[in-house]
Amino acid sequence: MPPILSVENLEKTYDGGFQALKSVSLEIQKGEVFALLGPNGAGKTTLISTICGLVRPTSGAITVGGHDALKDFRSARRMIGLVPQEMPTAPFEIVGDTVAFSRGLFGLKPKPDLIEKILKDLTLWEKRKNPIMALSGGMKRRLLVAKALAHEPEVLFLDEPTAGVDVELRHDMWRIVGELKDKGVTIILTTHYIEEAEEMADRVGVINKGEIILVEDKKELMQKLGRKVLTLSLNAAIQTLPPTLEKYDLTLSEDGGSLTYTYDTQRERTGITALLTDLSDAGVHFHDLQTDQSSLEDIFVDLVKNGE
Ligand SMILES: Nc1ncnc2c1ncn2[C@@H]1O[C@H](COP(=O)(O)OP(=O)(O)OP(=O)(O)O)[C@@H](O)[C@H]1O
Ligand SMILES: [Mg+2]
Repeated sequence: MPPILSVENLEKTYDGGFQALKSVSLEIQKGEVFALLGPNGAGKTTLISTICGLVRPTSGAITVGGHDALKDFRSARRMIGLVPQEMPTAPFEIVGDTVAFSRGLFGLKPKPDLIEKILKDLTLWEKRKNPIMALSGGMKRRLLVAKALAHEPEVLFLDEPTAGVDVELRHDMWRIVGELKDKGVTIILTTHYIEEAEEMADRVGVINKGEIILVEDKKELMQKLGRKVLTLSLNAAIQTLPPTLEKYDLTLSEDGGSLTYTYDTQRERTGITALLTDLSDAGVHFHDLQTDQSSLEDIFVDLVKNGE
């Protein structure tokens, strides 16, 4: 199947000369959840805004569902829902109306049942007759999601959907994303909460200084770059490592009471079996063994740091 979204050699230089996107290419398959990670100013919002037609690219090509997003903007845009990073600004508009209106903007027939479901899903139903200014910050964010869903988009962009929201809304958002994914909606989200990408994404892309520096299946990424650490709590403290253990990547804790062994999860052999035998032969015994795997966060911090 052709990708539902394809971005090819996209470049954006803002007026004033700042280059925010450098030859970005990306393909997204229908139904996947793609998380775009990157530090502040990396170009995430610029990329999304360009795809959604809010920012004009300097060069490059974008297709959404086979429609050229530059030449056939309307057809492409109709397929897209966008939850922007910025808060809504029309304070006097009525909550329910603004959601229904978002649907009308795309020339679609009204569908009050759908609007009701969306408002209820996002627990905005009770506020539907209120003006936007009467909503709390988190509710305004929910409203942005409601507006983006009103025309039943096939591709949904969420630009930091959970920045500054409470735990409950974050979990609501994860649930909503899961439900949309089940319906076959493609979701592209940006986030600074790596936990969120770890939770939701099928694939992860990392952007830094306007360049996509990595795109990987999330599970593979975590396996590939993930390192595991094995910690052994010793029965009796030791002062130095026995010479037979020097060939291992071992660190002795300061008090001599525990050993940590770092190994690559990608390597076929972890070396643990041999290590345990050598430990026993050297008379070093332990009473507890614990493993920790590096999180997506560790991997991300490493990547961006190395990109400096
Ligand atoms: N309208 C604009 N004119 C000039 N420069 C801009 C404009 N919009 C964004 N930039 C610059 O482009 C770069 C990328 O900005 P962008 O908003 O895409 O980053 P981001 O990855 O979304 O960051 P954040 O995590 O803070 O949301 C930044 O250096 C920003 O200052
Ligand atoms: Mg942004």
